[in-house]
Amino acid sequence: MNSLHGRSIVLGISGGIAAYKAVELCRQLVDAGAHVAPIMTEDAHRFIGPVTVSALASEPVHTSLWDDASPIPHTRLGQNADVIVVAPATARVIAAYAMGLSHDLLSATLIATRAPVVLCPAMHTEMWEHPAVEDNIALLRSRGVIIVEPQSGRLAGGDIGTGRLADTATIVEAVTTALNGSVKDLVGTSVLVTAGGTREPIDAVRVIANRSSGKQGYAIAEQAHKRGATVTIVSTVDRQTLAGITVVPVETAQQMLDAVSCHAPSSDVVVMTAAVADFRPVQAIAGKIKKDEGIPQIILEPTVDILGFLGTRKPAGQILVGFAAETSNLVDNARGKLKRKNLDLIVANDVSADQVGFGHDTNEVTILLASGEALEVPLADKHTIATAVLDSVSRVRMAHRPQ
Ligand code: CTP
Repeated sequence: MNSLHGRSIVLGISGGIAAYKAVELCRQLVDAGAHVAPIMTEDAHRFIGPVTVSALASEPVHTSLWDDASPIPHTRLGQNADVIVVAPATARVIAAYAMGLSHDLLSATLIATRAPVVLCPAMHTEMWEHPAVEDNIALLRSRGVIIVEPQSGRLAGGDIGTGRLADTATIVEAVTTALNGSVKDLVGTSVLVTAGGTREPIDAVRVIANRSSGKQGYAIAEQAHKRGATVTIVSTVDRQTLAGITVVPVETAQQMLDAVSCHAPSSDVVVMTAAVADFRPVQAIAGKIKKDEGIPQIILEPTVDILGFLGTRKPAGQILVGFAAETSNLVDNARGKLKRKNLDLIVANDVSADQVGFGHDTNEVTILLASGEALEVPLADKHTIATAVLDSVSRVRMAHRPQ
């Protein structure tokens, strides 16, 4: 049985030319055994007929907040959904959702749900690349909304560029991943995640830092929280996160080591996502180094390899996860780190590739397990990557469990 079987999916269709592709999506979700409740915006009716969607979905199309048999259709639809997928999502629907507007049934349902939401934008390239749309997408991503990026190709009117609705198979896969993410497989476990790049003081104002944004670490922490874990993030960055997650702020590698040493022994899963400085100045200068004192000689010393340290004292049953930021020989280098640091799995990413790793909203990784298995996760938003990492953690935990 596939993971869509018996699940309740709200399919939102908004008013763009790609609405015709939602018909095939609807059909595939129903064929996979899902219960599909369709919502069409008024504008979507201009592109496809509701009769077509009603005939293929599991219940008739809903459009209005007011003419449904239920007096409060948005809460019924929002509360009953295991996942909501909006395909196509227009710039207007994206903006309304980002702002929390609830002026029609689709936008009201989106904010009346606690289910995962998958948005599949489709629009002209100029609109997709407009800063307002980009900001709204970034905001929604930071709230855990899964964005299925539009593809490049022929657009309405014969233009060519990025903005085509992702293909149906990609959307079905994202919906499946989102549903897996709603699985509560981490209830009763404590998960410790590190996030961000450490900053090592040179003097009173300068630091040695790196480009890590902390986004991947926060995505893992938030997905673990949604899957039922008790989550602590040891973080060098100041980012908003979900209520219920404990954040321990740190700055340097030494502070991160201290915080992690304190929390790791009682954690079932430790994920070292942070980019920890390998070297720090031997001694930070008390004041500000002045230009006229000449070019400073900064003597460095190694920091403790926190993950390596944790690997030497891993409690029985604990799952230790590392990241490997590589620019060459991705798999070989990552496998070496997996063995050297006594890890259960390592997430390898080629940080020199486009749109991957440090600072980006997306990532592309290979997950290597101590058992020798390898799983490639193609370019996706960091929450999708987080889901794949936690799926692997769950598999390793199941394999370790006494029979
Ligand atoms: N790490 C750590 N403490 C350090 C350095 C790295 O805990 N002082 C962890 C990182 O959080 C990551 C893993 O080790 O999970 C691998 O980090 P990476 O920078 O890829 O590798 P290094 O071990 O530092 O080796 P190199 O820089 O030579 O690639």
